[in-house]
Amino acid sequence: MCGIVAYAGHKPSQRILVEGIKRLEYRGYDSAGLAVIQDGKLALQRAAGRISSLEEILDETTAGGTVGIAHTRWATHGAPTTSNAHPHLDDTGRIALVHNGIIENYAALKTWLQSQGKHFSSQTDSEVLVNLISFLYHGNLVDAVQKALKEVEGTYGIAVISSHHPDTIVAARKGSPLLVGVGENEHIVASDAAAIVEHTTQAVYLEDGEMVVITPDAFRTLTLDNITVDKELENIEFSLQQIELGGYDHFMLKEIFEQPTSLENTLRGRIDLQAGRAILGGLENVKEQLAQVKRIIIIACGTAWHAGLVGEFLLEELARIPTEVEYASEFRYRNPIIEPGTVVIAISQSGETADTLAALSEAKDRGALALGVVNVVGSTIAREADAGIYLHCGPEIGVASTKAFTSQLAVLTLLAIYLGRRRSLDQDQAQRLLQSLTEMPARIKNVLCLSDQIRKVAESCLGCDNWLFLGRGYNYPLALEGALKLKEISYIHAEGLPAAEMKHGPIALINKGMPTVFIASSGSQYEKVISNIEEVRARGGMVLAVATENDTRIQRHAEAVFTIPDVPEPLSPLLVAVPLQLLAYHCAVGRGCAVDKPRNLAKSVTVE
Ligand code: G6P
Repeated sequence: MCGIVAYAGHKPSQRILVEGIKRLEYRGYDSAGLAVIQDGKLALQRAAGRISSLEEILDETTAGGTVGIAHTRWATHGAPTTSNAHPHLDDTGRIALVHNGIIENYAALKTWLQSQGKHFSSQTDSEVLVNLISFLYHGNLVDAVQKALKEVEGTYGIAVISSHHPDTIVAARKGSPLLVGVGENEHIVASDAAAIVEHTTQAVYLEDGEMVVITPDAFRTLTLDNITVDKELENIEFSLQQIELGGYDHFMLKEIFEQPTSLENTLRGRIDLQAGRAILGGLENVKEQLAQVKRIIIIACGTAWHAGLVGEFLLEELARIPTEVEYASEFRYRNPIIEPGTVVIAISQSGETADTLAALSEAKDRGALALGVVNVVGSTIAREADAGIYLHCGPEIGVASTKAFTSQLAVLTLLAIYLGRRRSLDQDQAQRLLQSLTEMPARIKNVLCLSDQIRKVAESCLGCDNWLFLGRGYNYPLALEGALKLKEISYIHAEGLPAAEMKHGPIALINKGMPTVFIASSGSQYEKVISNIEEVRARGGMVLAVATENDTRIQRHAEAVFTIPDVPEPLSPLLVAVPLQLLAYHCAVGRGCAVDKPRNLAKSVTVE
């Protein structure tokens, strides 16, 4: 959510900053801007809309400076206009700031600053912070930033420059990630490693409450109390190639097609087929506590929450541990009951989702063992958790989560087997599941061949504005995920439901030609799903089905059938996900939607 890049070096910074925020555009894309120190003065250029709109107006004003800050925005306070775009200047025009997060007490601070004679030209909370820094500035920028941040309630990742200190950038974080790329005679601060890897793979990750001061030739990490913190240089794990389109039209399509590989990476080294065991090194230091677990609560948001719902089925069936799944945003505010033996698992692709992070902290404070199932290495949730399992599926850029979802399912399967084998799951059953898991990348490759068939079906449904997705058991969460994918990128209204619930209300929606996607893969509830299909057909609905190869009956019940290989029921969601992702993708492309940057959404939601 919002992207920050700040550069201090000896090269002209304009291009570096723009290229940097372009790599972060998936985090926010309603307005963008940059400020550089040029000829001893602050020069600012901003534009509403995509970064391409900013590029169109960029000129000599900011072309020469070698120290600068830039931002791509996802609006929280104030509409996405040019005047609300970042960077924001203080009212003297000598200090500029970019900010991710929310200043919760901005209204009180603003009133007070106005009473002290400060003037404002935007509706943002961020402009309040830069004016507070300016008010507290008496010749020492670091000191002013420290004092200002002590007055602030809320979250921030910020970078500040001032024409008083032309070669310096001050950056700080609390609740919004920042890292510092350390290059040769250049330093880059960014909210995401994607903006840094082109320049250097050596980085320092800031913790909450830490700041960094960079110049072209040096950097110093410190606390708000001005105490120097010695930090280790870390290696950024992903390459430039991973975050580029590589011939695909969209990141979402690239990431859908990457799933055989991303899944292989998730599973690598984690399966001991002979023993019928899952190897999860990230849980080693809590294995004694895990042996005592009595109850599991999964917390997550969005697509990760859907993975959690599948996890509930897996953990209850394979490990026989009572499991609940909660929206992180609800869990944190409802006085949850955590008893001894409760494990809380936060699932998050980014590892930065504010609600999930806060829910995890709440659970820890109440004494739960906190585990993370996270993709981004070193992210806040990964560091906050007592132990965890990384997805290792590579950077996910498309706003609609795809490959992270299938990797989350795979990790939850491994976890259920890991815990189950320490309880009642027998070796044979575990071996069968693990064997099938190892075959999953190849099976997904087969399912990807459906893309053309699905495109044609999608094109024939482009005029339909309401869809239903129905599934049962393990695939009920997949119905929710299929509907979410469709609505978030194509803006078609879609609902996902457990198939049997349809007759308790939603069946009233069904009319002639309304697409209803049934997940009818083989399994314990197949016959019941067929009955539900007939209920829809009897009312004129158009049935599209995801079914298992060699199912000869289903053709008679559906207008189109997307076939997937037959696998053990607990693993079927891994395959079912793929046609649903492709269906949403082709509908969105057919309707001319911005697939990777759907309106109003952001990849990583770091505000409440
Ligand atoms: C946002 C994204 C979703 C994602 C959710 C949780 O809403 O648009 O695609 O599922 O956040 O993100 P996380 O990074 O915690 O998995």
